[in-house]
Amino acid sequence: MIDSIARLPRVSLGFYPTPLTDARHLSSAIGGPRIFIKREDLSGLAMGGNKARKLEFILGEAQKQGATRLISTASAQSNFCLQTAAAGRKLGMKSSFALLKGVHNEVQGNLLLQNVLDSDVEILDVGDMSLLRGSFIADKLSEIAEDKRSKGENPYVLLHNLPELPALLGIAGWVTVAEELNQQFERMGLNVDYVVLANGGGGTQAGLELGARYVNAKWKVVGVPVLNRNETALKLTSDQVNAGADFLGLGITVAPEELELHDEFLGEGYGIPTPEGLEAIRQVAQTEGIFLDPVYTAKAMAGLVGLTKTGRFKPTDTVVFVHTGGVPALFAYQPEVVR
Ligand SMILES: Cc1ncc(COP(=O)(O)O)c(C=O)c1O
Repeated sequence: MIDSIARLPRVSLGFYPTPLTDARHLSSAIGGPRIFIKREDLSGLAMGGNKARKLEFILGEAQKQGATRLISTASAQSNFCLQTAAAGRKLGMKSSFALLKGVHNEVQGNLLLQNVLDSDVEILDVGDMSLLRGSFIADKLSEIAEDKRSKGENPYVLLHNLPELPALLGIAGWVTVAEELNQQFERMGLNVDYVVLANGGGGTQAGLELGARYVNAKWKVVGVPVLNRNETALKLTSDQVNAGADFLGLGITVAPEELELHDEFLGEGYGIPTPEGLEAIRQVAQTEGIFLDPVYTAKAMAGLVGLTKTGRFKPTDTVVFVHTGGVPALFAYQPEVVR
């Protein structure tokens, strides 16, 4: 464990290491590389996902500050906010969310689970995801925090963008995964060439990229943007690698062009399913009995399949696909998913 990470306040939320499983049938169905799936969807918190690792450090800090209420934002079917609310309940904290209108705003999927958790949820009538990085949302969350403070609560606001501390703590959570993967590869005798994952805000990939460089990994991270086009995603992700490295004192820097992202699987935009993604959901379920989500992992898997077709991944390669979770959203997307 990196010293600067070991010194951070932390709470235990997930079951680690998450399993790494051989997806032999998927691999032969697509005539592709050897595929393993890193089952981050089995992390255990609120139906699993990549956010538990981030939240271990973010809520460690919130708890250190004596928070009684968590306040955050994202899109309506946010997996991050669901995991935040569930983790908060486990730690005796309530949650309030101001969510941007998404493709599915009905009380289904993650919003249904938020209802069960009795979180305060307000859906704002704006759907422009770039607002998550600006002052509009920061002001909105401050307003909620002020209101809660006036009622005697101690709110902790979770903003996802740099230079906010929760963003840096989230990156730290994913730095640790590089070493976890290397240990699994060694135990299983694998020579892995690529690790493929979805890129939303980019913090997960940034943490993994940083961790991979720190442990001198032989594998390369390949990201599939589901929110931003390559140019923006490359800048956001490399900025987070560099900010994370500074924060943790790792002495590592990357330039955007050193990262590999493929935005050709994004389709029309965030949260809008693609035919290839919907096909990937069925293919992975029918070959491996594993469910993907329509917003993140379906597009990332469509990326793995597409990059196999174009020859970027060869039959002799070994590729690890990170299943980052998000499966509850599948139910909200029933109209698109059902055949
Ligand atoms: C299921 C799932 N996969 C991947 C991601 C991408 O993570 P990041 O925003 O850190 O890029 C998210 C969150 O945005 C997610 O909910």
